[in-house]
Amino acid sequence: MWVMLQPGDAALVPSPSYPIHRYSPLLAGADVREMPFTTDGDFIGALRDGWEYSWPKPRVVVLSFPHNPTTACVDLDFMTEVVEFARERDVLLVHDFAYADLGFDGYQPPSILEVPGADEVAVELYSMTKSYSMAGWRVAFMVGHAPTIAALAKLKSYLDYGTFQPIQIAATVALNEAPEHPREVCAIYEARRNALCSGLERIGWSVEPPRGSMFVWAPIPEPYLGMGSVEFASHLVREADVAVSPGVGFGPGGEGYVRFALIENEQRITQAVRTLRGCLDWLS
Ligand SMILES: Cc1ncc(COP(=O)(O)O)c(C=O)c1O
Repeated sequence: MWVMLQPGDAALVPSPSYPIHRYSPLLAGADVREMPFTTDGDFIGALRDGWEYSWPKPRVVVLSFPHNPTTACVDLDFMTEVVEFARERDVLLVHDFAYADLGFDGYQPPSILEVPGADEVAVELYSMTKSYSMAGWRVAFMVGHAPTIAALAKLKSYLDYGTFQPIQIAATVALNEAPEHPREVCAIYEARRNALCSGLERIGWSVEPPRGSMFVWAPIPEPYLGMGSVEFASHLVREADVAVSPGVGFGPGGEGYVRFALIENEQRITQAVRTLRGCLDWLS
């Protein structure tokens, strides 16, 4: 964002969203305008309205599908419409493609760069954090709109020397020699999703099984809704030893939900569902 925005500019960001998507424009001294990503899935409508009602007109739109935290997924037609939208308004799209490889049931998340000409209005980020389970290694890359990439390369050359070389070499070897690894990682998350969603269904907590990402975005069951997501999440930690993220931590648009992360194996997930059943005594 430091190479795209300056004080006086604005970025349009989904609400709820991965926290840095909202804070990075602020770190660049710019303002944030929000577009609500509700479960009705009308993201184009949200984008158009967000644009319409924003002042100053946003110079940057942040997108990320499969979406953290809502797990919303889109198809190539959506990406095509968004690119068209950006072209008409001379706006830059930033697509964080952190869950590029995590699509379930045969669903393949589209890259925005599949849209012809998208590199004139969009950059896309790919990270090895999820696809190669390399969280914290800080290996990622950005592709697309050439002037933005050049500006980032220049900024980075002042900020740091790059990642510790053995890590760069490990990443290069992984990309060259294990291109199938993300599929294995994806199958693991898919099996965990199945275990969690079917388990929650069994105890009377109905959730939409995600088509991608490594999360389950769960509406707080009706009897507990009044608690709010922070208090409800605290309740689950205290009473069931299950940690979830309160939806409101992803912005006001996340209230009413909690986010499960699929970071435990199936056996531990099944165990967690059992303890949840014990503590959610108001569920039918
Ligand atoms: C949308 C999104 N982008 C980026 C990341 C992190 O990527 P990295 O480890 O490359 O900073 C995450 C991880 O939670 C994420 O959910």
